[in-house]
Amino acid sequence: MTFEKTILCIGAGYVGGPTMAMIASQCPRCRVTVVDINPERIAAWNSDNLPIYEPGLDELVRATRGRNLFFSTDIEQGIRENEIIFVSVNTPTKSFGLGAGMAADLQYWEKTARQILEFSESSKIVIEKSTLPVKTALAMERILNCQENGIHFDVLSNPEFLAEGTAVRDLEHPDRILIGSRETDNGLKARQTLVDIYASWVPKERILTSNIWSSELSKLVSNAFLAQRISSINAISALCEKAEADVTEVSRAVGMDSRIGPKFLNASIGFGGSCFRKDILNLVYLCRNYGLDVVADYWESVVKINDYQQERFIRNMLGAMFNTLAGKRICLWGFAFKANTGDTRESPAIFIARRLLEEQAEIVVSDPKALGNARTDLTGVRGQIRYVEDPLQAAEGCHAIALLTEWDLYRNLDFPKIFDSMAKPAFIFDGRNILDHRRCFDIGFNVYPVGKPPLTHFLEER
Ligand code: UDX
Ligand code: ADP
Repeated sequence: MTFEKTILCIGAGYVGGPTMAMIASQCPRCRVTVVDINPERIAAWNSDNLPIYEPGLDELVRATRGRNLFFSTDIEQGIRENEIIFVSVNTPTKSFGLGAGMAADLQYWEKTARQILEFSESSKIVIEKSTLPVKTALAMERILNCQENGIHFDVLSNPEFLAEGTAVRDLEHPDRILIGSRETDNGLKARQTLVDIYASWVPKERILTSNIWSSELSKLVSNAFLAQRISSINAISALCEKAEADVTEVSRAVGMDSRIGPKFLNASIGFGGSCFRKDILNLVYLCRNYGLDVVADYWESVVKINDYQQERFIRNMLGAMFNTLAGKRICLWGFAFKANTGDTRESPAIFIARRLLEEQAEIVVSDPKALGNARTDLTGVRGQIRYVEDPLQAAEGCHAIALLTEWDLYRNLDFPKIFDSMAKPAFIFDGRNILDHRRCFDIGFNVYPVGKPPLTHFLEER
């Protein structure tokens, strides 16, 4: 079969894999190849056991793999044979040198750019899919077009807005697709090529085009705004706990203002995930770089509140459990950074687990999809850790349950049985406010939600 367009994606991660599977599924006349330097990852993409858990992804890959979707480790051949190249490699926060802990580490990116230059035998469109600091495309363009050999590269920015756990739905029905390009003849032509691909399934009015820097910045700003909402409600949750207000009632009342809207106002143990913290710190670094210290401080406070919220959760546990956790067994329900994913990157559970171990508690980690990643995250951490998938078994003999991920399965468990199996007094710290607190209290638990008065059987607190 001859294909109308040939597409390569470098980086087979949480973004590259699902996005390319969706393009392959919606554009049967495109051949899509996904490459990665990690051979185990590629082997997993070619197996029945995909390297990431995402509802609907197995079906999508099964329908397209071997038809017009291919996974390979041959990056060189991939670059040579394809005319459109998405770059979706990781861009972690720099851990060394200038900007350490703040700026994006662009070494994988630059390596990829140099590889594209080395192996290309014809002109190509290169698309930034990874979230990158503003003006990275310019650097990419400079590296790619530094030789006078008749080969030309057009660099586009096409940030991905999918959220994990809902990636397939987000890819199929995106709020918007954003494509940034240079506003030259070549740039506009390349932009149109990408618009045409998305127009196979995305309504035209949802495909936005812009200049390349606006596109890069929009991605950082979208994530910063989302994270800011969470930090705003989490800051208010601290006040609610002191003022005996209920943060769920406050967020409902506030969110019904149509100018504010109801989404992303759930108080929690703080946001995790590979994007929010990294992107805000990137934005902060960018602002400082331009001498905008007041702006940088403003955005940095979003991260500070997030750190504060996680530490506050530990302090609430300590305070409730008579100021010592030493020797107590605490069960963590959930380790993923959110429900419906096995991803634990930047999960608040990592910080909470470490802090509990520092307080010399024993922990039992439970999660339906993230236990493998949890083991990796806690490798080398000192203390007593057990991993038990079944939430009931995990809670057995524990002094407390800390609910850290809002998995649906935790809502309707046999709580009387769980209570009977635990050490007394038994505590539940609901870091996601998803349980029926009154019911748990009536069963006998001492219940500590986020941003609401606790329900306890201790006389002095009632
Ligand atoms: C985010 C953006 O939503 C997405 O558009 C971007 O492409 C990547 O980053 P993701 O990190 O997958 O997606 O998850 P998201 O649903 O945004 O949740 C991030 C974190 O915020 C999670 O830890 C979640 O539990 C937390 N959260 C979310 C809250 O604590 N309260 C809320 O009300 C919403
Ligand atoms: P994201 O969430 O942004 O998709 P991931 O870490 O899940 O990030 O995926 C990034 C992928 O990019 C990883 O599988 C990693 O092995 C791959 N990768 C990093 N550098 C290169 C490179 N130079 N060439 C090919 N793949 C790379």
